[in-house]
Amino acid sequence: MRIAMIGTGYVGLVSGACFADFGHQVTCVDKDNRKIEALERGEIPIYEPGLDALVASNVKSGRLSFATDLAGPVAQADAVFIAVGTPSRRGDGHADLSYVHAAAREIAANVQGFTVVITKSTVPVGTGDEVERIIKEANPAADVAVASNPEFLREGAAIRDFKHPDRIVVGTEDERAQKVVAEIYRPLYLNQAPIMYTGRRTAELIKYAANAFLATKITFINEIADLAERTGADVQDVARGIGLDNRIGGKFLHAGPGFGGSCFPKDTRALVKTGQDYEAPLRIVEAVLSVNDNRKRAMARKVQHALGGSLRGKTVGVLGLTFKPNTDDMREAPSIPLITALQDLGASVQAYDPVGMEQAKPELPASVTYCDDAYACADGADALVIVTEWEQFRALDLAQLKAKMKQPVLVDLRNVYRPDEMEKAGFTYESVGRGRG
Ligand code: UDX
Repeated sequence: MRIAMIGTGYVGLVSGACFADFGHQVTCVDKDNRKIEALERGEIPIYEPGLDALVASNVKSGRLSFATDLAGPVAQADAVFIAVGTPSRRGDGHADLSYVHAAAREIAANVQGFTVVITKSTVPVGTGDEVERIIKEANPAADVAVASNPEFLREGAAIRDFKHPDRIVVGTEDERAQKVVAEIYRPLYLNQAPIMYTGRRTAELIKYAANAFLATKITFINEIADLAERTGADVQDVARGIGLDNRIGGKFLHAGPGFGGSCFPKDTRALVKTGQDYEAPLRIVEAVLSVNDNRKRAMARKVQHALGGSLRGKTVGVLGLTFKPNTDDMREAPSIPLITALQDLGASVQAYDPVGMEQAKPELPASVTYCDDAYACADGADALVIVTEWEQFRALDLAQLKAKMKQPVLVDLRNVYRPDEMEKAGFTYESVGRGRG
C-alpha cells in the first residue's frame, strides 16, 4: 500500500515508521521545513525509545521518506492519514480543528483515484463528517472515503503499543475503505489483534471514551489513596484487591500525583465540551478533571506536611519533571503546578530529570535550579520529592542521598520505595495512599 501521513508529530511519526516497517510505502509530510530536514538527517524530534532505529532502518530500505509538500504523496496514495495536532483551543477547551480542516482542503486539491482519508488525530465526534464535507465541496469529483482510525499508543511505549494493540478501531461503513484499511493492518491481525469496524462517529467517540475512562480510573484510585492514608489502609493492596476482579482489571490503578500528558487532560476537556454542546453532560468526567487539577497542587501540601508544616526557607529537590518516564514531554506534567505551589509556599526548588530538563525550563519558574543528577539534586535539600518514576530513581543509593541532604525526608509520589526499607535507611518517608495497615 502507498500511504501519505500528514503530520510528523508523535502519532504521525510513530505510525508512519511502523507502517513502513510493516512493508508499506510511506511518506511522512510536514509543513515544517526544519523538522523534515532534521528527519532526513536522521534526527528524531521527540524522545521515544526505539523510534530512531526504526526510522533509520525503514529510510534505508526505501520504504519511508519525508516531504514538505503533500501534493505528490497524496496523489499517489491509497490511503492518506491525517495526524496533525488538535490542541485545546484557548479559552473554551474545545479541540482546535483548524489543522485538520486545512489538511482536508489540501488533500481535496491533490487526490487522484480512489483514496481512503483516515483521521488518526483525536477529533471530536462529527469531525469525519466535516472532513468529508470539506473534501467533497472543494473537489466534487474526488473519489474518497473518509474513515476514523483512532490511535491508542502511550508515550514511552509507542512502538510496542502500535505493533501489539489490544484492538484496532476503524470507523467506516464503506466496503472499499474497509478493504484498504484491512490490508494496511494485515500484519497486525496476523498477530491476532482484533479489528473492529464501526460507524465513523462511533470510532471517534470510542477514543474519547477510552481516554476518559482511563483518566477516571486513575482519579478514582487517587481519591481512594487519600482515604487509605487517613484510615490506615494501603492503596496498593486495595488496587490489587479490586484489580484482580476481571470486571475491573488491574491496570491504571497506580495512585500518584495526578495524570498529565498530551492526551488525558486535553481529551477529557474536549469530551466535557462535547457533552455540554449536545446537552448530555458528562458529570463524572467533569469531576475527574477538577479533582485531578486540585490534586497536582495538593501534592505540595504533602511535602509541607513532611517538613513539619512550613516550607518557608526550605530547599526541596524534585526528581523527575516530565509527565511520565521515557519521554521528554512536559505537557500538563504534575511537576509544573507542584513546583509552582512549592515556591508559593516559600521553598526554593532544585530539580533533575534524566531527559526532559531542556523541555522543562520554559515551563517552570525561572528561579528553579537544575542539577546534573539525582545526588546533586539531594545536595543540601530539606526534602527530596520523586515526581516521575524514571527507572534510575528506583535504585538510588540511599546512604549517599542521606549523606547529601540537610535532613533525610523523602516524599515519594509514585510509591517507588517501600515504607519499611525507607524507615530502615533512616528516612522520614511519605508516599501516596499507604497509611500502612
Ligand atoms: C495515554 C493513553 O494511555 C493512550 O492510549 C492514548 O492514546 C494517549 O494517552 P500517555 O498519555 O502517553 O497515553 O500515557 P499514560 O501511560 O496513559 O499515562 C498518562 C498519565 O496518567 C501519566 O501522567 C501517568 O503518570 C498517569 N498514570 C497512569 C497514573 O497516574 N496512574 C496509572 O495507573 C497510569
